[in-house]
Amino acid sequence: MKAITLREFGGPEMMQYSEVEMPVPGDGQILIKVINSSVNRPDVIQRQGNYPPPPGDSEILGLEVAGVVESMGANTSRFQTGDRVVALVGGGGYAQYALALQDHCMSIPQSVSFEQAACICETYITAYLNLFILGELQGKKSVLIHGGGGGVATAAIQLCKTLSPETEVIATASSNKLDRVRSQGADHVIDYREQNFADEIRQITAKRGVDIILDHIGAKYLEPNMKSLALAGTLMLIGVMGGIKAELNLATMMVKRQRIIGSVLRSRPIHEKAAIIDQFESSVMPLFASAKIEPLIDARFPLKDAAQAHELMERGGHFGKIILSNQD
Ligand SMILES: NC(=O)c1ccc[n+]([C@@H]2O[C@H](COP(=O)([O-])OP(=O)(O)OC[C@H]3O[C@@H](n4cnc5c(N)ncnc54)[C@H](OP(=O)(O)O)[C@@H]3O)[C@@H](O)[C@H]2O)c1
Repeated sequence: MKAITLREFGGPEMMQYSEVEMPVPGDGQILIKVINSSVNRPDVIQRQGNYPPPPGDSEILGLEVAGVVESMGANTSRFQTGDRVVALVGGGGYAQYALALQDHCMSIPQSVSFEQAACICETYITAYLNLFILGELQGKKSVLIHGGGGGVATAAIQLCKTLSPETEVIATASSNKLDRVRSQGADHVIDYREQNFADEIRQITAKRGVDIILDHIGAKYLEPNMKSLALAGTLMLIGVMGGIKAELNLATMMVKRQRIIGSVLRSRPIHEKAAIIDQFESSVMPLFASAKIEPLIDARFPLKDAAQAHELMERGGHFGKIILSNQD
């Protein structure tokens, strides 16, 4: 089969469209003929050599796929050959065929296309896990979502507005994305390049601060994030695009009873991922089926041009998801 492999770690020019061996499904696994997969920021970090796959997972990039069941390994009964499925995978998505644990797969609703389905697993499950399972978001809370035009962030805004409509959503974004972020349902948008977001949050929330922050910037935002957090608020840290080391005033954090939770989806034990997917399938998948939420697709590339897709993500102009296709 064809897949994207890396000559070595580095820039997008290291990505090559190669012939590789077709994977064979093992115990509890299914082999998926991939129609679409999608690009996530962690793929860029893996390509650079800083985010290895969990032991046992494919070295090939790609964390989510949508396609049809090609064949099944031992002890698999949930799906039949030909079923339309979407899967969260630890690696291997940038390929014509990918292996997935059956417990990490979900059926694609009839009304959802393969392209849309390929956007669901990594971004929406990350947003759901961090805001709703770990962050326990519900009711009249306020949430700050950074980088409101990104894959995870657009999913997070949509989920807040659908699963918890009373929640006040504040998002940061760069200038040219502010209107589109607002149109996704954000109640307030802050231009992170031109404005001091901590000052803006103070004003928007009348000095109270927000209950939850979904942050992927890390060190650079630690201080303004903690300033923006309400009493007993939670900072959900899901990325470190702005550095890994920063100082923290522990006394203030203690007195304000604040929490910081670090969280990664990919390296969780497989049974934990299965439980999260199970909860997601019952709580969120019906929203896709009824078109209450729709993944935002910014750009499409044939799999062989995955390097161009990475260049687009790194330039940072995209809004929503960048997908790869095996049908071109
Ligand atoms: N922990 C987990 O389980 C998990 C899972 C998936 C993803 N992630 C992390 O989540 C993050 C987003 O991933 P993604 O796939 O959604 O990537 P993405 O689509 O490229 O989104 C990244 C967003 O960050 C914004 N951004 C860049 N610098 C910013 C800053 N200083 N302040 C505010 N926003 C800024 C960008 O906006 P502009 O383009 O407008 O600059 C862009 O919208 C990454 O750090 C990724 O590693 C974590």
